[in-house]
Amino acid sequence: MVKKNSSYYIDLEKRYGAHNYHPLPVVLEKGLGIYVWDVEGKKYFDFLSAYSAVNQGHCHPLIIKALTEQAKKITLTSRAFYNNKLGEYEKYITEYFGYDKVLPMNTGVEGGETALKLARRWGYRVKGIKENKATVIFAEGNFWGRTMSAISSSTDPSSYKDFGPYMPGFEVVPYNNLKKLEEALQNKNVCAFMVEPIQGEAGVNVPKEGYLAKAYELCKKHNVLFIADEIQTGLCRTGRMLCCDYEGVRPDILILGKALSGGVLPVSAILADDEIMLQIQPGEHGSTYGGNPLACAVAVAALQVLKDENLAQNSFYLGNYFRQQMATFKSPLIKEVRGKGLLNAIVVNSKKKNIAWDICVKLKENGLIAKPTHDTIIRLAPPLTITKEELDQCIEIIQQVFRAFEGK
Ligand SMILES: Cc1ncc(COP(=O)(O)O)c(C=O)c1O
Repeated sequence: MVKKNSSYYIDLEKRYGAHNYHPLPVVLEKGLGIYVWDVEGKKYFDFLSAYSAVNQGHCHPLIIKALTEQAKKITLTSRAFYNNKLGEYEKYITEYFGYDKVLPMNTGVEGGETALKLARRWGYRVKGIKENKATVIFAEGNFWGRTMSAISSSTDPSSYKDFGPYMPGFEVVPYNNLKKLEEALQNKNVCAFMVEPIQGEAGVNVPKEGYLAKAYELCKKHNVLFIADEIQTGLCRTGRMLCCDYEGVRPDILILGKALSGGVLPVSAILADDEIMLQIQPGEHGSTYGGNPLACAVAVAALQVLKDENLAQNSFYLGNYFRQQMATFKSPLIKEVRGKGLLNAIVVNSKKKNIAWDICVKLKENGLIAKPTHDTIIRLAPPLTITKEELDQCIEIIQQVFRAFEGK
């Protein structure tokens, strides 16, 4: 009989799955709160949280309760008919974030696509841009998914190379550079600027204070929509409900995903006011699964947990604590520790190829799983339910592993 250990499952994926990912060699079969377990029964601190989709912790009992109760009633109606969950969810989430309307989708990248369609529509029908001339500005280093549009705005060759031709009407300016943004905004055909308040995939790039507020102000001055991609930074991850809250910015279009379901199923949402949202009418946009009753029930529970458990506050305080503790730890291998709330990264000071990967493998052996982004950056993003005592144990593991690599 085949022994069903980690290598068995890794081999299966290699043999039968497309090779579009390079996972860390750990095979997970269970998760609860901030912990996950592999098929050999070893327990780990989860320091990725499924790219910040599991902010509420794995298998949160209230979210799973909402999921299972709804799953027994009805899961999918399509939008051909009304269902008794969607309207209540729409009321809940629009009041929660203070927008007139929501448009429900599934994955994050669909949220981005939807925001862009809305912005172009608004550009033609409200701003008066000539047909097919609308331009959207993005920031260098952006990441918003893997569709043709998303890779068309990408500046990372591993995302876009040899997948052309690309979507027209996109322009890229350097991130965290208001001068270049203002120059690009001179173009009368610009309908929107789409930006991550902190660039997650690019390596937790935190812009200078005031960047978002000023960028928003420039957009207003030039009659351009400010679209915030808060798919990774939103929902308490960076120590506020939304990362834009730090600068008092209310995006014209807000995109949410990931933790909107607490990691239970793909749920994304686009929030905007009527002047923008009502530019799309029946038959002009949609998705079979978008707004399904299961997703609606789960999303309400996931949002409720964020408030009930004060996760923004926990993320804010423990994030500051984490960076303070790491600042007192002197290692020649650490160039920088940066982030906001519990979205952080360690920039490794080494020219060695794959150093971040090697450190992540060692962290895994020591009971903490994280994933590198680029060759020298390790993103650290535990579930926001982590306690100070647990975080202390994790800091201990991280520091021990860095010590072990010094001089290697
Ligand atoms: C900022 C941001 N936007 C969009 C996406 C795309 O989300 P999804 O993978 O659910 O399509 C991601 C995914 O990592 C992201 O980090």
